[in-house]
Amino acid sequence: MDDISEVSPAGFSRALSSYWPPFAALNSRAGNEITIVRGEGSVVWDAHGESYIDASASLWYANVGHGRTEIADAVRAQLATLAAYSNFGNFATEPTERLAARVAGLAPLDDPLVFFTSGGSDAVDSAVKIVRRYWTLVGRPEKTGVISRNHAYHGMHGFGTALAGIEPNGTGYGTSVTGGFSRVAHDDVDDLQANIERIGPDRVGAVFVEPVIGAGGVIPPELGYLEALRKLCDEYDVLMVADEVISGFGRLGTWFGCERFDVRPDLLLGAKGITSGYIPLGAVVASQRVWEPFRAADTLFRHGYTYSGHAAACAAALANLDIIENEHLLERVQKLEPVLAGALAGLVEHDLVEEVRHVGLLGAVEFIHTEPDLVNRVVAGARRHGILTRVLPGDSIQLSPPFVITEGQIDAIASAIRAALDDIDL
Ligand SMILES: Cc1ncc(COP(=O)(O)O)c(C=O)c1O
Repeated sequence: MDDISEVSPAGFSRALSSYWPPFAALNSRAGNEITIVRGEGSVVWDAHGESYIDASASLWYANVGHGRTEIADAVRAQLATLAAYSNFGNFATEPTERLAARVAGLAPLDDPLVFFTSGGSDAVDSAVKIVRRYWTLVGRPEKTGVISRNHAYHGMHGFGTALAGIEPNGTGYGTSVTGGFSRVAHDDVDDLQANIERIGPDRVGAVFVEPVIGAGGVIPPELGYLEALRKLCDEYDVLMVADEVISGFGRLGTWFGCERFDVRPDLLLGAKGITSGYIPLGAVVASQRVWEPFRAADTLFRHGYTYSGHAAACAAALANLDIIENEHLLERVQKLEPVLAGALAGLVEHDLVEEVRHVGLLGAVEFIHTEPDLVNRVVAGARRHGILTRVLPGDSIQLSPPFVITEGQIDAIASAIRAALDDIDL
């Protein structure tokens, strides 16, 4: 605490101790805070001046790297002109319109419209509402059922919590929003089909799917799985909702994960990489099939957020997309994919490693399950060796570095994990 207040304005440590942080155990956190104060490219610095390679791009979002003044300048210009204004009803702000056109042009959906939200969880909850309104508008209001997969993470709002395939994330909140939600095996289309049959196709409205399961442990799809899921959705007249909050905007070397796996969803959700996290923003991209009944009915869709399409957030997104295009970062991700694969392959032989998984610039190392607390010790050890990563379910750690990471830094990440493993005395 003393060290922190030395580098911070007066009162900062008091403010820290007043803070209730997300996904934290309040008791064990106290006194162990890691305060990150600065970032540049793939490197961040803590309040003590220690530098770390950001192996997770913070929470999967710092895709164009930290400290990009181009985005700061674009946001500053927009803030000075008009920070934001209502986008409800007939109102609109210019960057919002421009970003919608740009995202609609990139997304692999038929003639889409883009509904902006404040983040990924908002996008998930908005999508569930859009799905249920859609089916009501086309005269099939009983198709309220929504299916997700084991290990899925769809944010922590009400509907997202009901969709949670990471068991502890979905328990302890009562049953108020969970009606109509069910889960299936993450890798088995037959299980999905059996579930649709069990519920009755007339009562199922949508399947939510992350192209690559992210927060549930970085689990790429089995070969052909997503294509088979798309086919099944067509067969049973069920909407396919691709949650691309992690995979969207380049993480897999294509603008969207659905492109990489050659499927076209009915709805696609984005957040994180849309601004590389410089300002919170999310989006629901809806195909014409989905938005057309809303237009035809000409009724008010009573849903939206104060900051839906926030002008300064959209300005950040536009500058972020410029960087991805101008610096050819999709091609860079494609080039780095085998580098990450090679670095992880070198870890597989370690006695404490169970397996590694990867696709694009997204990976996980899973450790053996017989040593309690091993994964936490690896994360702490990696930090001592200059790498920030974090624990995922299934005794895994997350690797999702910024797209601007260098080959040398990828090697440094693998070396730090190896060194952390070698430090462990069992
Ligand atoms: C696939 C997926 N969906 C939704 C979310 C929720 O996004 P947010 O935390 O911005 O609300 C996340 C966050 O990690 C995610 O990975």
